[in-house]
Formats: sequence, C-alpha cells, structure tokens
Amino acid sequence: MKRLILLIVIVLFVPVWILTDVAISQDNQEIPEDIIINNSGYRRKVHTGVEFPHLAHSEDYGIECSECHHEYKGGKNVWKEGDPVKRCITCHKPTKRQGKVVRLQFAYHFSCKKCHKEMESGPVECKECHKK
Ligand code: HEC
Ligand code: HEC
Ligand code: HEC
Ligand code: HEC
Repeated sequence: MKRLILLIVIVLFVPVWILTDVAISQDNQEIPEDIIINNSGYRRKVHTGVEFPHLAHSEDYGIECSECHHEYKGGKNVWKEGDPVKRCITCHKPTKRQGKVVRLQFAYHFSCKKCHKEMESGPVECKECHKK
C-alpha cells in the first residue's frame, strides 16, 4: 500500500515539477539591454561590430518583441513573448541563403535598415552603424 501511494505521488508530481522547471528556465533567459552584434562565419568580415540598444527599442521606441523575433510555422510567425529566443545565426546562415531564409547579413539589414527607413528615424547610412 505504501509503495502504491509513493507511486501515485511520483506519477502526479514529477511531471508538474518538470513542467514548471522548464517554464522557469524560459523566463530566466536574460533580456540584454545593449548588444554588440558581432558574428563570425562570414566569407569576408569587413566590420567590427554594430551597436544595438536592444531594450530601448522595445521600452522607449515601443516596438513589439515579435517585430524582430520570429519562429515560422506554415508561413506564420508563431513566436510570442516568453518563448525562448534563438539567435539570428541559428537559422540565418552567414554564407548562404536557404529558400526564404536570407543570409545573415541581409536578415539584419532587412530588419534594422528597413524599419529605420520606414519610420524615418534611426540610422540608415552605412557608417552610422558600421563605425569601423
Ligand atoms: C541600421 C544599421 C545598419 C546599417 C545602416 C548598415 N548595416 Fe551592415 N550590418 C548591420 C548589422 C547589424 C550587421 C551584422 C553584423 C554581424 O553579424 O557581425 C551588418 C552586416 C554587414 C556586413 C557583413 C558583416 C561584416 O562585418 O562584414 C557588411 C559587409 C555590411 N553590413 C555592409 C553594410 C553597408 C555597405 C551598408 C551601407 C550601404 C550597411 N552595411 C548599412 C547593420 C547595419
Ligand atoms: C528592434 C528589434 C528587437 C526588438 C524590438 C526586441 N529584440 Fe530581442 N534581440 C534583437 C536582436 C537583433 C538580438 C540579437 C540576436 C542575434 O544577434 O543573434 C536580440 C537578442 C535578444 C535576446 C538574447 C538572445 C541570445 O541568446 O543572445 C533575448 C532574450 C531577447 N532578444 C528577447 C527580447 C524580448 C523579450 C523582447 C521584447 C521585450 C525583445 N527581445 C525585443 C532584436 C530585437
Ligand atoms: C527559428 C529560425 C529563425 C530565427 C531564430 C530567425 N529567423 Fe528570420 N526568418 C526565418 C524564416 C524561416 C524566414 C522566412 C519566413 C517566410 O517568409 O516564410 C525568416 C525571414 C526573415 C526576414 C525576412 C526576409 C525578407 O525576405 O524580407 C528577416 C528580415 C529576418 N528573418 C530577420 C531575422 C533576424 C534579425 C533574426 C534575429 C533577431 C532572425 N531573423 C531570427 C527563420 C528565423
Ligand atoms: C521595427 C523597427 C526597428 C527595428 C527592426 C530596428 N530599429 Fe533601430 N531604431 C528604431 C527607431 C524608431 C529608432 C529611433 C528612436 C529615436 O531616435 O527616437 C531607432 C534607433 C536606433 C539607433 C539609435 C539609438 C540612439 O540612441 O540614437 C540605433 C543605433 C539603432 N536603432 C540600431 C538598430 C539595429 C542595429 C537594428 C537591427 C539589429 C535596429 N536598430 C532595428 C526602430 C527600429
């Protein structure tokens, strides 16, 4: 009887513990305030890092996380705030385009420059972002 109770306790509570543990580790992914974007893996690396005031973009300029972070399923962005964030390079390769998944350099350019142009604020000239 004791063993049966123990078994029931394990069956009931262990999955709950595993689930909450996963939820906690997702919530704990640190949201960086400022980022220097500096990837390697390009065929030729010309510049030395781009300053990106990350948190200011969501907190001060009011941009939704999901404007920049995505995970596509059936052509739709299913990423939502609270989900783990993968680095751009996880999917966008520095050397080759894979179907609709543009090369890494263009992933950044089409995100950063395009929005700055559309909103008519934020840097659009090469040397404003590429200082060196
Ligand atoms: C809004 C900011 C921004 C502007 C404006 C911009 N870039 Fe970039 N660019 C980036 C970011 C971010 C990366 C990714 C850097 C990395 O992965 O290390 C990048 C990557 C690159 C790379 C490949 C990585 C390297 O260091 O060689 C090249 C080449 C490049 N940009 C050239 C240009 C040129 C030329 C212009 C102007 C026509 C330009 N960029 C304008 C943000 C910008
Ligand atoms: C204007 C675009 C933009 C917005 C808005 C934005 N992010 Fe980001 N975020 C980025 C970029 C670009 C990176 C750097 C990723 C890289 O270079 O691989 C990043 C990195 C991160 C990282 C670190 C990932 C890692 O493993 O290094 C986390 C976590 C993150 N963002 C969460 C958030 C959350 C949560 C929000 C909303 C509150 C948010 N971001 C809003 C563009 C944005
Ligand atoms: C989990 C994989 C994944 C990650 C991580 C990811 N992307 Fe993407 N990205 C995709 C896929 C897939 C597409 C193609 C979507 C479609 O049109 O079906 C795409 C498309 C894009 C496009 C549109 C390209 C165009 O043709 O206009 C941009 C810009 C972009 N990603 C930028 C980024 C940036 C910046 C980051 C990092 C903050 C990032 N992506 C992280 C998978 C990813
Ligand atoms: C969806 C829109 C959007 C995206 C995507 C975006 N930005 Fe911006 N960014 C803005 C806006 C709006 C401002 C101007 C805010 C202001 O000056 O009031 C800005 C300002 C900036 C500034 C100037 C900050 C300052 O203190 O003057 C830098 C640097 C910058 N962005 C870099 C980047 C880089 C690098 C990326 C890509 C990784 C990026 N941004 C992606 C909207 C965007």
